[in-house]
Amino acid sequence: MLIGVVGLGYLGLTHSIAMAMLGHQVIGYERDPARLRVISDAQIPFHEPGLEDQLYKLKSSGLLTVAQEVDDGAVCDVYFICVGTPQTASGKSADTSFVISAGMSLAKVIAPDTVVVGKSTVPVGTAASLRKQMSEVAGFPVHLAWNPEFLREGTALEDSLDPDRIVIGSCDDYGLQKIKEVYKPILDRGTPLVEVSVETAELVKVAANAFLATKVSFINAMAEIAEVSGADAVELAKAIGYDERIGNKFLRSGIGFGGGCLPKDIRGFVARAEELGVGDAVNFLRDVDAINQRRRARVVKLAEQELGELKDKKILMLGLSFKPDSDDMRDSPALDIALRLSEAGAKVTVHDPVSLSALGEKHPELFREQDLKTAAQDQELVILGTEWDQYKSLEPGALGNLVGNRLIIDGRNVLDVRSWQAAGWRLIALGRNVQQ
Ligand code: UGA
Repeated sequence: MLIGVVGLGYLGLTHSIAMAMLGHQVIGYERDPARLRVISDAQIPFHEPGLEDQLYKLKSSGLLTVAQEVDDGAVCDVYFICVGTPQTASGKSADTSFVISAGMSLAKVIAPDTVVVGKSTVPVGTAASLRKQMSEVAGFPVHLAWNPEFLREGTALEDSLDPDRIVIGSCDDYGLQKIKEVYKPILDRGTPLVEVSVETAELVKVAANAFLATKVSFINAMAEIAEVSGADAVELAKAIGYDERIGNKFLRSGIGFGGGCLPKDIRGFVARAEELGVGDAVNFLRDVDAINQRRRARVVKLAEQELGELKDKKILMLGLSFKPDSDDMRDSPALDIALRLSEAGAKVTVHDPVSLSALGEKHPELFREQDLKTAAQDQELVILGTEWDQYKSLEPGALGNLVGNRLIIDGRNVLDVRSWQAAGWRLIALGRNVQQ
């Protein structure tokens, strides 16, 4: 099949590569000329393990090509809309203008038997209104479907090729059958297929992210209780996680969730529910957000408790991305805490194995250091903000010889408390009471 993928961001570029790896002929469309140039040179404009090799192979074999506009060249059998839906500047709702604009551009080029599939995360109801607008422009009823994507940054390609499930909400059976054909190699392996309405498909995605965010904030709420009661949130998570109904995943306490999806999706969900007159149904998501924000404030408070007035105090932040194996700093807890500390007057040095180049010229108030040994020199407090492997395997004795003060806050609960304490460190682990 000839497949078009509109928007070559995280989602679209990964999806284009995955579709070509399944054997389809793929055209990826990207409007941003700078990004298009990078991808045309077979480079990935962000850090994501495994993508660059595949892009190079697929471009060389001709299975994957790129273009700027959807009317550049052939009409595809199936188009996937993979453009972003960021949080609006004025409010908390999702900005669907890129999705609408992609849909309207497609409406001008598609044929009556073309299938258009939305993958972007949208407020429930978007697809129905988009279909109406597209059909008016196209002059025939457009086969529109929604097929949410659940890939995680850091494991994007694996998640696309080997998903837990495929969810398809199609306006008609023709569209459904066409999409099943696209995913045939994955479905033939026994991957569960959930066929739903378009509205359910839209809602599945935000509901899944809302549930994940709630899980993280739940354990972080327990961490708040643990901190004042002498309990240990990490041991608590282990104990409740053995219950299969609860499960042990997504129960890691620490400085909370960030990224381009979970935070904006829960806010967008609340905004959409309010528009639909059922805001009360997701009121709890406001608390999920508030708990998440409190974790960041907690680290600043701990720094003040330990160091006193923060003015001119030397603090090292280990990690800047919102999670390891990614250079994405959108709503990153580590970056946010670094900025809050800097605003309070501290001299904050930041280190990250891959994200410093993506930081570019932004936030000049943060001192950047690529060499960890130099970064650690004379620091009065070290904070572990992103659990990169490099930090998990740090040797506490060696790092202790570099810093000015053996004080560390483990924001991700990944360090071995005993060995750090044995090396003379005062270690503060969020949600735990580990001080000797
Ligand atoms: C998330 C979802 O997990 C994907 O299923 C979804 O497709 C994606 O959003 C999206 O909507 O596109 P992602 O943002 O890549 O994926 O990251 P996650 O692995 O979900 O982590 C999100 C944040 O939660 C990170 O900051 C992570 O550090 C934090 N987290 C995660 C915790 O603090 N504790 C945990 O136990 C798990």
